[in-house]
This record gives sequence, structure tokens and C-alpha cells, in this order.
Amino acid sequence: MSQPRKWTGYILAVITLVIGFVIGKMNVDNSGTIVGHANKYQQQESQVQALVQAKYGQVTTIVRPEFKGNVLTVNDGESIQDAVNKAQAGDWIKVMPGTYKETVYIDKDDITLSGVIVDGNWPTLEGEHKLNDAILYSGNNFTVENFLITHYKGNGVMGQAGNNFIIRNNMIIDTGVYGIFPEFGKNGVIEYNVLTGIEDAAIYVGMCDNIHVAHNEVFGNVAGIEIENTRHAIVENNYAHDNTGGILVFITPGLPIKTTYDVILRDNFVVNNNLENFGAPGSIVAGIPKGTGILIMAGDEVTMQNNVITGNDNAGILITDHGHAANLTPDPEAEPNSDKIAILDNLMFGNGKNPIDEVKVLMATKFANRGPDILRVGESRDSCINNREKYLTFGIDEFGTCAFDSTYGTKTYLLEKPVAPRKITAEERGKLAYYGICAGCHAYNVKMVGPPTQVIQALYMDNPQGIVDYITAPTKKREDYPEMPPQDYLSEEVKMAAAKFMLDVKK
Ligand code: HEC
Repeated sequence: MSQPRKWTGYILAVITLVIGFVIGKMNVDNSGTIVGHANKYQQQESQVQALVQAKYGQVTTIVRPEFKGNVLTVNDGESIQDAVNKAQAGDWIKVMPGTYKETVYIDKDDITLSGVIVDGNWPTLEGEHKLNDAILYSGNNFTVENFLITHYKGNGVMGQAGNNFIIRNNMIIDTGVYGIFPEFGKNGVIEYNVLTGIEDAAIYVGMCDNIHVAHNEVFGNVAGIEIENTRHAIVENNYAHDNTGGILVFITPGLPIKTTYDVILRDNFVVNNNLENFGAPGSIVAGIPKGTGILIMAGDEVTMQNNVITGNDNAGILITDHGHAANLTPDPEAEPNSDKIAILDNLMFGNGKNPIDEVKVLMATKFANRGPDILRVGESRDSCINNREKYLTFGIDEFGTCAFDSTYGTKTYLLEKPVAPRKITAEERGKLAYYGICAGCHAYNVKMVGPPTQVIQALYMDNPQGIVDYITAPTKKREDYPEMPPQDYLSEEVKMAAAKFMLDVKK
């Protein structure tokens, strides 16, 4: 019997080498096809895939159709936007190492935008603290990968209504408000990205469905990963450390999509999220208490399994509702409680060493001066927990025991068939832009980052063109407000629609 065993060992060693090689190659240039080595490695690759699948379960991502378009290469000194303008659906834009100081706007379907990394040199999108956004897409079936994106003021990668997106293997450092921000998209993957220095959410999934967020590292941000007004999402195998809050599942009131539910958080490391909150004063994330590992606010059917949650000084998991959150105006159309929360087996220790004052006061009755692994404030119906004796908890006595102990039967919420493009009218784009972008800083009747919408309505009344002109090139108007970043990346049509919406909105 010793012979077969030896062989198994040998085969495993070879397979490990092949996997290492394939992954190494993919880092250089991966868009579904392994360029240049296709014939040689395709066979091994499929064998490896079969083995990986058998052993670890399928690696979840969106499979692109076979590449049949043209390759457009962008060299240092040239413009990526020029290549995008020339590209047709199905084309592949390869960007060589170099520094590109621009905002790239992709309003076409089936475009793959790949950085080519040579000897460790990445193509860099450099905003110089002047440009607002690095990459903005609204096309369907968009892939972006292998970029270093830094020093933008608004967003690293932002999507509006693009479905079937893949955002992977990017380094996003100090890009302002959001790092990766797909908004109103269906069927998308965010994987293998590293993000730091973001003043709101590093990965912000907003108003989306069927999303997979995996293998990312987020640190040094206000919020690491935020699933907001989004349904059917899996967040797994991520490393969220040294943020103010690690992973957030929210319903933000006032948005056109009113629910967040069916979210699985599993196999994540959520560690030492104790960073001082540096969110813009008045923003919702500015209300996140530092030291929070996982924060669930008004999200429903959120299941947590097999996460390692340690060293978060306020609480490991905080479950709350709209009533207890700072900087929020409740939305009568959004259900404010976190219901059907399921805490399966997780590893938690060393949380709550230095809780915020409100938590200290709460906890005084139970464990003096320290915070818990799990804390619930506000209503929560039909929630459950397994192995509750393993954790320090507060407020979950009425949680039952869960009727299930694993989510692994659900590998992914990605859809087998790509979804068709969303058809949206200019008016809807205006509403989306208003809620998705403007409402981040302008609330209806309270001062947020910018002046209240009511004040702007009084100023501009019947003059949407005046708003369009202002937001294209804002000037400093008020001493007690920061400068407003230009919104010149939006098309004239969308700016006009957003301006009209802003003048009409009633709450
Ligand atoms: C990152 C925050 C931010 C975002 C996003 C934002 N604004 Fe502003 N906005 C501000 C700030 C701050 C001011 C105040 C600037 C000042 O008074 O110097 C402002 C001021 C304004 C004004 C008042 C101009 C005046 O004449 O007094 C209008 C109009 C406006 N914003 C429209 C919009 C629209 C429309 C959007 C969305 C497309 C938007 N803003 C997105 C922060 C933002």
C-alpha cells in the first residue's frame, strides 16, 4: 500500500506547483484567459480547477465568455480614456505600468480594463488630491483589475447601475470618500483588493443584489466593508483590521431601496478595529463607535459563521436599530430593526477592552467597565445564537438557539446567467445620482457635510441649470463648510436630471 501513497504525495506536490504557477501568472494578466500560455496550461488548469473544486469547493467568481474582441494597449504617457473611447463592446484594454492622472469613465458594455503588472510595477491612477474619481462605470459586464489607485478625493472605483461586474486585485489607497463603490448593480464580485485610508467605507456595496465580496484586505478606513440597502450578499474570507468599524450591514434611511436582507458573513478575520473615527462630521459613518468589529443596523437575515472576531475594543458584534444610531433621520418606509440575525459558531475573544461611554454605562450592570463580544440594543425579532456560553453577551437573552449551524450549503448568490442591462431613464438616473451621490453630503433639512437641500431649493428654485453650472465647477461660498468636490464626471444629462430632482424632492 505504500506505493499509491507515495504517488498521491507526488501528485499533490505537482498540483501545488501548478496552482502556484497559475496564480502567479494570473496576477500578471488575468482576464479569464491566461494569455500566451493558453494551450500549454489550459489542460492542467482544468485539472487543477477540478481538484480545487473537489477539495475546497468552487472558487466563486463570474465567468466571462471566451475573449474574441480586440486588445487595446495603453502605454505610460497615453490616456486610458482615449482607449475607452475607441473601444467597442468585447474589447480588452491593457494598461502598462506608468502614472495616469485622469478620471476614466466607462459607459459601454463588455469592457475589460486590466492593468499589466511588470516586475512588480503597477499601472497607477494618480488623483493628486485634485481629481474626484478614478474609475466610473455604468456599462454592463465590466471588469477592472490590477490597478494601484491613489490620492483621489471622491471614489476609487464607482459603478452606477452596471450589472455583472468584477472588481479585483486592485490596491486602493487614500481615495477620499469610498474605495470601491458599486451602486445599484446586480450580480457582481469584489475580490482580492486591498484598501486603506478611506474616510467612509472602503468597500461600499450600495443598493445592489447578488454580490460576492471575498479575499479582500481592508484596514485604516472608517468602515472596512459596508453592505447597505443590498440583498443576497456573501462576505467571506476577508481580513478587516484596524478600521473604526470592520464590517457593516446597514439599512441607510432615505434611499430608494428600503431593505437589506439575506447576508452571510463567514470566514472573515475581524480584528483590532479600534481606529479613531475620521469620517466627515455629520456623515452616517461618523457615528460608528470606534472599536466595533461587526455592526448590524436594521439589516435582516444576517448570518455570521466561522468569523474570527478579536481585539475590537468596543464590541465584537453590535446589533442595533435606527433609533439608536447617531446622525440619522428615520425613514417611515424602512423597517428600523435588525431582525432574524443568526450568530452561528464564531471565534471571539479579547473584545470590549475599552468600550465607548454608552456601552460602559449599559455594561455596568453586568461586567463592570468592559464591553462584550456581542451587544444588542433596540428591537430584534426572531434572532438566534448557537453556543452562547462561549461569549460575553449583552441584550441577547431572548435570542433562541438557531435551527441550523452552517451556511456552507450556499456557495454563492451570484447568478449563473449574467443579467441583462438595467434600462433606466434620465429621470431615474437623476434620482439615483441624487440619492447615491448628492445625498451623501446633502440631507433634506439638516446640515450634513453640505448645506440642507431645502436651503438649496430656496436658492435655486426654477434654475436647475444654475445647479448644473455650480456642481461642474463649485466655488467656495460658505466659511463654515468644506469645499464641494466637482461633479464634472457626470454627463450633462445626469447632472441636469440630478439638479431637477434636487429641486423637486420633498423630504
Ligand atoms: C462630498 C460632499 C458633497 C457631495 C457629494 C455633493 N455636495 Fe453639494 N455641497 C457640498 C458642500 C460642502 C457645499 C457647500 C460649499 C460652500 O458653500 O462653499 C455644497 C454646496 C452645494 C450647492 C450650493 C451652491 C450655492 O450656490 O450655494 C449645490 C447647489 C449643491 N451643493 C448641489 C449638489 C448636487 C446636485 C450634488 C450631487 C450631484 C452634490 N451637491 C454633491 C458637498 C457636497
